[in-house]
Amino acid sequence: DGSPLFKYNGYWFPQHFFRPILSFQKHFKAKDSDIILASSPKSGTTWLKALAFSIVNRNVYPINQNPLLNCNPHALIPSLERHLYSLQEHPNLQHIPNPRIFSTHMPFSTFLPDSIRDSECKTIYICRSPMDMFTSGLHFLLENKTQNDTVLPLELNEAFDMFCHGIHPYGPFWDHILGYWNAHLKNPEKVLFLKYEDLKEDITFYIKKIAEFMGCPFSLEEEKQGLIEQIAKLCSFENLKNLEVNKTGNIRGVLKNSSFFRKGEVGDWTNYLTPDMAERIKKIMESKFEGSGLMFKI
Ligand code: A3P
Repeated sequence: DGSPLFKYNGYWFPQHFFRPILSFQKHFKAKDSDIILASSPKSGTTWLKALAFSIVNRNVYPINQNPLLNCNPHALIPSLERHLYSLQEHPNLQHIPNPRIFSTHMPFSTFLPDSIRDSECKTIYICRSPMDMFTSGLHFLLENKTQNDTVLPLELNEAFDMFCHGIHPYGPFWDHILGYWNAHLKNPEKVLFLKYEDLKEDITFYIKKIAEFMGCPFSLEEEKQGLIEQIAKLCSFENLKNLEVNKTGNIRGVLKNSSFFRKGEVGDWTNYLTPDMAERIKKIMESKFEGSGLMFKI
């Protein structure tokens, strides 16, 4: 959203989340059975929420009665700092049935509550090519612009320059991504690392992988019944975008449900950014990701 950013311990945060971020860090107690969905904004959070919810609850609701059909994924899986802790300093999260699924945009490093890092809970991180993430973010800001926004209108070149300096919500993107990447390398059983582009290429494979990671792999019987394909279809961009609930309404009166479903493509940045801009991001990635084994195609 269009809140001004402030820098705190090396990261840029939307200013009005300062208090919720602190109370989330201080008070949230993860349970071993929790699943945390982590991402930078505009990297595929909505998709991951829909997938994780459908996989975990596949025996609770038949596909044609899945709550996703009537509810935006962000309303089903609340964000810790942006939703739960922004409403109350001590939200009661005990009544949520296990496994509880939450989301966060917080960087891995010192920002996650100790209990998330130290407990047995699992984290699924999704990231996306920074070019598409940037393009998606700019559209999202414009789509949800309100009269109170102080940072808008932001010109594309100016926004891009800031992005390259790491000044964007929960940026710098390279530190955000590297933080979870390193955590994944250190303990792949605890942190699953996904790329939006990979999911677009082979969603069946990743639905299975997510289910295995969460400790609820698909049985042969379920596979034979076509359950994986049904979940893929239910959570697909086209299906979610065209649901009545996602064409209207909003999240917490601020963000339009429809703004979470724009194009859902890989490489849409080529319609907005120049080859020089791509080269600049490429150089940043080469230098920041050097030796990590990480890269995104340009
Ligand atoms: P675009 O703006 O490029 O279309 P987030 O969910 O982290 O806010 O990211 C939003 C981006 O994911 C948007 O990208 C949106 O269209 C895309 N998206 C939302 N739901 C999706 C889905 N089910 N499948 C693929 N992409 C999806």
